[in-house]
Amino acid sequence: MKPGPRITPRQAGAVNAPIQHERRQVAARLAAAGCIAADLEAVELCSAAENAAALEESVARRERGEPLAWITGVTRFCGRRLRVDAGVYVPRPQSEAMAEMAADRLPPGGTAVDLCTGTGAIAHHLRHRAPGATVIAVDCDIRAVRCATRNGVAALLGDLGAALRSDSFDVVTAVAPYVPTGHLRHLPTDVRDHEPQHALHGGADGLDIVRRVIRDAGRILRPGGRLFIEIGAGQDALLGDALHEHRLTDVVSWTDADGDVRGLAATLSGERGPAMRSAVP
Ligand SMILES: C[S@@+](CC[C@H](N)C(=O)[O-])C[C@H]1O[C@@H](n2cnc3c(N)ncnc32)[C@H](O)[C@@H]1O
Repeated sequence: MKPGPRITPRQAGAVNAPIQHERRQVAARLAAAGCIAADLEAVELCSAAENAAALEESVARRERGEPLAWITGVTRFCGRRLRVDAGVYVPRPQSEAMAEMAADRLPPGGTAVDLCTGTGAIAHHLRHRAPGATVIAVDCDIRAVRCATRNGVAALLGDLGAALRSDSFDVVTAVAPYVPTGHLRHLPTDVRDHEPQHALHGGADGLDIVRRVIRDAGRILRPGGRLFIEIGAGQDALLGDALHEHRLTDVVSWTDADGDVRGLAATLSGERGPAMRSAVP
């Protein structure tokens, strides 16, 4: 085939000029609507839209505060692309550290459950990091269960660990709702007005569901198995009794770049079965 004429940088610039102009216009509208990362979001919306009408609709949705990932239908978590259906909590980068720690702890051929899975982000990561492991996920919202399933996760509709067998898991993870009632009004308006309340609100001190996760983890973990749970700043100090009551010991917490506690891990005390003894050092 005869090679076509080389595109010079000047010509390339001329071809891209309308696209760049469009992106600048979108970025200006997003910035005016209060988007902090308007330039980056403009690139994502322009790349995802198939035509001008679709782009206009996407920008209008974002101006109204809908999460970007609901509009583009995707996000990235632990370096992988993940589908996000409208109405389902968008996984946050802050949860990636917990997903990595949980994956480090999952023994070859082990079993893990991600309670409160949303899009299935954490379970999806565990599956990729530990291909021989059995990983399942639970959410009480059918939209989340469908989304996690579309992300390739074995997801069940249910209330935390209620339907799961006792003494069955090496790892339990959970990003449960943990925003205290009084803090809901301080959330960014797009989160408060669009993301589902049942994904955010954790009751008066934010820990109603977290305490139930701890209770269920105490039952479904195998002795020696480990719980990883995301919490908010200062909430670790309120969980000592619940952890103790459910035999969860060896508690460690981790912090974010601001020094605020973001989560904790704890191990179920007691005798390990033979399978665990050989699988985990
Ligand atoms: C903060 S979101 C976290 C989603 C996901 N783990 C992530 O990090 O992206 C909390 C999720 O918990 C689910 N949820 C709330 N209460 C639940 C319950 N009792 N049982 C199961 N899932 C629950 C919500 O539907 C929501 O998907």
